[in-house]
Amino acid sequence: MFKPVRKAIFPVGGLGTRFLPATKAMPKEMLPVVDKPLIQYAVEEARAAGIEEFIFVTGRGKSSIEDHFDYSSELKSALHSKGKDILWRLVESTTLPPGKVAYTRQPEPLGLGHAVWCAKPLIGDEPFAVILADDLIQSDIPCLQQMIAAYQQVGGAMVAVMEVPMAHTDRYGIVSFDPSHAATGSRRLVKVTGLVEKPRVDLAPSNLAVIGRYILDPRVFALLDEQKRGAGGEIQLTDALSGLLPIMPFHGYRFAGRRFDCGDKAGFVEATVAFAMSRDDLGDDLAARLRPWIDS
Ligand code: UTP
Repeated sequence: MFKPVRKAIFPVGGLGTRFLPATKAMPKEMLPVVDKPLIQYAVEEARAAGIEEFIFVTGRGKSSIEDHFDYSSELKSALHSKGKDILWRLVESTTLPPGKVAYTRQPEPLGLGHAVWCAKPLIGDEPFAVILADDLIQSDIPCLQQMIAAYQQVGGAMVAVMEVPMAHTDRYGIVSFDPSHAATGSRRLVKVTGLVEKPRVDLAPSNLAVIGRYILDPRVFALLDEQKRGAGGEIQLTDALSGLLPIMPFHGYRFAGRRFDCGDKAGFVEATVAFAMSRDDLGDDLAARLRPWIDS
């Protein structure tokens, strides 16, 4: 039996330059897909997976994330006085439980590895999840929940993986892996044998890419203590993960679901359409409105 995964880190310290000017004064993670900010989807996924403690690694200009998950007594009385109690219940459900949420600061966006390292004092000696809000995953069973179920069988370290077009390997962390199912005994688990951040197409060991869901062992912090800048001049999480390979089981998890890259404009718009189309209150109306565009 492995220790339960009770804590999740949400790195939200990046600049979001691909969405400028929208992200000049607003965090990328607060961009809404239909009517919920990206970071709320991430938190809901964590809660559904049984996460009890929520650790946000924030930076300059990110305080609206704290306000979003806070209790709002003004909104409560305003909505109540207008008879909008149902709407208040929706708003209230976004509040995170007292004592279970922490915000720590990444003073400079030095990279994802550095952002995770900033949460080291808040994790202690237990496994933890990392969720990147800009990888939005639509699935029947939330992706992290799928991963935690698999983790309880194998322990160690685990990353969500999916196949990407070979021409896109230089946008992702890419794994090399033992291709035999016998290596793990599972259709969804792959035994990771190597990791490389954003390899050129001709140097990529595979097209199996790491997507923004991780279950990590706290020993990764010792590796991050020493981590130098890597691809793009940033302190990369992928580079530190390579150091875990010799010391513990390391699996990729081929999750069931559809992933949208909401850090990219086209992916974000695609997610907005897909999530709206799947909603009972919007799908038919939106399909009717989009039809002329699709037909023309
Ligand atoms: P990205 O690699 O998408 O970087 O980060 P970014 O800065 O947010 O966006 P672009 O590339 O400039 O448009 C993936 C996730 O990791 C967080 C981001 O906030 C995002 O949620 N991150 C990234 C940090 O917390 N700190 C960093 O130094 C870098």
